[in-house]
Amino acid sequence: MPDTASAPAAAPAGVSKTDAEPKPIPFIDLQAQRRRIEAPVNAAIQKVLAHGGFVMGPEVTALERRLAEHCGAKYVLSCSSGTTALLIPLMAKGVGPGDAVFVPSFTFTATAEVAVLAGATPVFVDVKRDTFNMDVKSLERAIYTARGLGLHPRVVIPVDLFGQPADMDEINTLCAKEGVWVLADTAQSYGAGYKNKRVGNLAEVSATSFYPSKPLGCYGDGGAVFTDDADLHQRMTHIRVHGQGKDRNENVCIGLTARLDTIQAAVLLEKMNIFDAECVERNRIAARYTALLKDVVETPVIRGDRTSVWAQYTIKSKKRGAIVSTLAAEKIPTALFYPRPIHTQPAYRMFPSVEGGLPVTEELALEALSLPMHAYLSESDQDRIVAAVAKAVG
Ligand SMILES: Cc1ncc(COP(=O)(O)O)c(C=O)c1O
Repeated sequence: MPDTASAPAAAPAGVSKTDAEPKPIPFIDLQAQRRRIEAPVNAAIQKVLAHGGFVMGPEVTALERRLAEHCGAKYVLSCSSGTTALLIPLMAKGVGPGDAVFVPSFTFTATAEVAVLAGATPVFVDVKRDTFNMDVKSLERAIYTARGLGLHPRVVIPVDLFGQPADMDEINTLCAKEGVWVLADTAQSYGAGYKNKRVGNLAEVSATSFYPSKPLGCYGDGGAVFTDDADLHQRMTHIRVHGQGKDRNENVCIGLTARLDTIQAAVLLEKMNIFDAECVERNRIAARYTALLKDVVETPVIRGDRTSVWAQYTIKSKKRGAIVSTLAAEKIPTALFYPRPIHTQPAYRMFPSVEGGLPVTEELALEALSLPMHAYLSESDQDRIVAAVAKAVG
């Protein structure tokens, strides 16, 4: 028997219940993308199922070649995630105890985690308020902080946060002067440009992620390392498969199981066919957000000499709480990246930060808020999001 006492009230004449309720807007619409490429992706997966080369099948090599052509790096090593893409080069370069690895604290955990996994010490560096990326002056101070602590400055891991390349020329110049090498964390920025180059080709080594929500994402975990250094690439190839040498009976170093599945490579090859066009769309949508929101909240800043792939569209507002709740009431999701910066986390509190601390990071942790962003966001959905933000800040 239906419980009439708790039955919902009838909608007014002419208004169905669904008309009255706002339609949920996805934060990232992977289904819209899937509908566009469903047939070729299904065919590519079927092909792998038929040939049966699930590990290091021909699609893996084809993807590595395609990525190298796309970004201009000489060597590409696909691997199991963005995290292993960061860890493998640290292992290959012998980074370990006593070494300082300079990382922002305003980033995803993996950036600092790999330093600890390698046995080194992460040293936290502050970021710039306008771009969210590493502050080179803070990095310079952190190198002195590390030396003062008796650590050996070894690697800088700048992060291209939310899709925009960090200040790579300034970072590369400072690191060359200080004898420190650069591992660019491009997990959020593959596809972006800097001066006349592409991400993947802006540092001695770069690492990216193909996690599904990334601008170029697969249907599971995946990643890649980019370099022009043939020897380093060779060592990383060994590490990807248990330190294996010329065959499975020879181990030349300590390694991991860190290969990219062939099925994921097949999916990525299909996604690469539409990736550049999707990046154009992401930029159009981001520009429209900025035009509509610039007088309402602090909108993201992209430097004139680079482009972003808009992994996130992130605003800043002291009224963040009100924006989150107003949008939630209208079925519009938001995301907080990163409300608890890494240096404040229990697992990382014992590691040093730059002298003078991380005031900008701590400010951004309270004010940054990401809005729905993907290549298939319609103007009508975007108008709803913008109107809700404006309503929330009054
Ligand atoms: C900046 C950054 N670095 C590293 C990673 C790690 O990538 P994965 O999740 O593929 O291991 C991520 C993923 O979210 C990231 O955003």
